[in-house]
Amino acid sequence: MKKVLAFDVYGTLIDPHGVVALLQSMVGEQAVAFSSLWRNKQLEYTFRRAAMGGGNHYRDFGVCTQAGLDYADQVLNTELSIVNKQALMAVYGELPAFDEVPKSLQQLQKSGLDCWAFSNGTPTGVAKVLAHAQIDQHLLGVFSVNQVRTFKPAAAVYDAFAKQHARSQSGNCVLISSNPFDVIGAKAAGWQAIWVQRTPENVFDPWELQPDANITGLQQLPDAVNSLET
Ligand code: LAC
Repeated sequence: MKKVLAFDVYGTLIDPHGVVALLQSMVGEQAVAFSSLWRNKQLEYTFRRAAMGGGNHYRDFGVCTQAGLDYADQVLNTELSIVNKQALMAVYGELPAFDEVPKSLQQLQKSGLDCWAFSNGTPTGVAKVLAHAQIDQHLLGVFSVNQVRTFKPAAAVYDAFAKQHARSQSGNCVLISSNPFDVIGAKAAGWQAIWVQRTPENVFDPWELQPDANITGLQQLPDAVNSLET
């Protein structure tokens, strides 16, 4: 069976720090720190909900994003108005793709690879941001954790994707992600995984599981996929 490529969305295809420009107009020089704290808290809330078992403790990614925003606002004492918070949440649906992504996805699609979005985001949230960035047409569709009611890196998420799109053959699934926690989760579930190191400051977690290949942008993906064990 041929390999199925699952692309993480935020941080891999789409730049979550695309909110910085709008943040600058609201919080000035705190914008970068704000964006970073917001993203980290958003992820922490997903991890915590997953660690609590998901299910009844699951709230969708939009809830985690809103809570992360409220937290950053409190910690940094930025006193954002409701209107400004609404504007920031709206930008989350219009974040840009990283520069090389549209062309790279198009080439992968042409080469006949099965490419899916595979995200902690909601089905509608992910569909919206991919359509806005005009990359949805290069993907077969969106797999959202929403149907599993927990978050990556819970094994149930990777297993559900493999069941739906690779006839339960985890070994045929390849994750492409810039998020080390996601790469480690995929490896733990028996997948192959390619880590996208988008900046030199991003380091991979010291862990017993490591990616099968490292790239710095998706233009290197065809070679990386070819280098994987079959
Ligand atoms: C996603 C988050 C983890 O798209 O970035 O799944």
